Amino acid sequence: MHETAARGLEASRARTTRLTELDDVELTTQHSALMSPLVWDLAHIGQQEDLWLLRGGDRSAQGLISANVERLYDAFEHPRATRVDLPLLTPREARSYLADVRGRVLDVLERTDEQELFPFTMVEQHEQQHVETMLATHQLRDGAPVLGAGTPLPPGRPVPADAVTVPAGPFVLGVDGADAPGSLDNERPAHVVDLPGFRIGRVPVSNADWQGFIDAGGYDEPRWWSAEGWEHRTDAGLERPLFWSADGSRRRFGIVEEVPPDEPVQHVCFHEAEAYAAWAGARLPTEQEWEKACAWDPEAGRRRRWPWGDSEWTPALANLGGDALRPAPIGGYPAGASAYGVEQTIGDVWEWTSSTFEPWPGFEPMLYADYSAPFFGAEHRVLRGGSWAVGEGAVRPSFRNWDLPIRRQIFSGLRLAWDGV
Ligand code: AVJ
Ligand code: FE
Repeated sequence: MHETAARGLEASRARTTRLTELDDVELTTQHSALMSPLVWDLAHIGQQEDLWLLRGGDRSAQGLISANVERLYDAFEHPRATRVDLPLLTPREARSYLADVRGRVLDVLERTDEQELFPFTMVEQHEQQHVETMLATHQLRDGAPVLGAGTPLPPGRPVPADAVTVPAGPFVLGVDGADAPGSLDNERPAHVVDLPGFRIGRVPVSNADWQGFIDAGGYDEPRWWSAEGWEHRTDAGLERPLFWSADGSRRRFGIVEEVPPDEPVQHVCFHEAEAYAAWAGARLPTEQEWEKACAWDPEAGRRRRWPWGDSEWTPALANLGGDALRPAPIGGYPAGASAYGVEQTIGDVWEWTSSTFEPWPGFEPMLYADYSAPFFGAEHRVLRGGSWAVGEGAVRPSFRNWDLPIRRQIFSGLRLAWDGV
């Protein structure tokens, strides 16, 4: 009966529903030029589910809406800024489309072989990714709060602001479908990589750390920034993380509050992260270093499924799922530490790495062939570990996210790294 697959689809839909239980004006307004109106994400979630699960990806087969309407939800054809001007499905039409698609999908699922479940997890993860995108839209929206302040999180604890040493040596980067059936194309295949020794921050960079960079004039010192980064800092007038004010407050889902010093910093772009690291006498980790520090068990000589081991995620191990609406304080997850002792890799904030987004050797596109391949190249930087907004089934130590180096409406922070041991 494939209960795991059905539960995963149900869990992502519950989140979608919660973020779109708004009036039609809220759903059809473009809250930021960076984002789609929420009603676009809503119908796009259904369109992708229809395409991959009801038609096996065959675009020439008839879907549950007409081909002309379907094309409005093609992300390549219509950039985010233009979607508000399209003759989109109304919220009511979109909801009924999603329900129709889902009803048929559950019938198909019952008739599907155990070996053929990958498209279902792929679609569940696609929906979870759009839920995170919709949370970014909610965060950008003006007006009275509609999501509340978020659920409680574990308390932080004092963690030595030190680095963890990862000695030189080979490890297995990436995963295979056999061991990680839910992994997406760009995480595969598993292959041995030999890294020089390095040190990596035990925990992510905090808001208090970031305030130190601001106070030291870090935003006014070109020497900490790359040429491209400085140009962007100047053109965009960057002075502090997005959603922070000069008076030490921040706006979070419509609520203005003091910036909590012990929370991992978020809403910084790659250029800012790189400048911060230079100021701190460090650098960003490569994604290979990040994954080794997160998932490799040097004693056992094998990867762990999660940093803490192979056991299932629980809320005591990492901040995932989105209900908190914020990262957990530094030190909140001692039990979630990796074999090397690195904490808060999974959840809390996406961590910028220095790596550009490239395929692993032996890369093969999945059913959704345009998921990764069109984005390979130097234009995008890789982020690792997932944020507080990520759904449980949509992140792993091998999971690779990417974005443009100027983006900071995403839930992005950083962790430092240093050469040598
Ligand atoms: C993996 C987050 C970069 O949102 O652009 C959603 C995910 N791809 N629909 C994105 C995605 C197609 C993707 N990221
Ligand atoms: Fe999409």
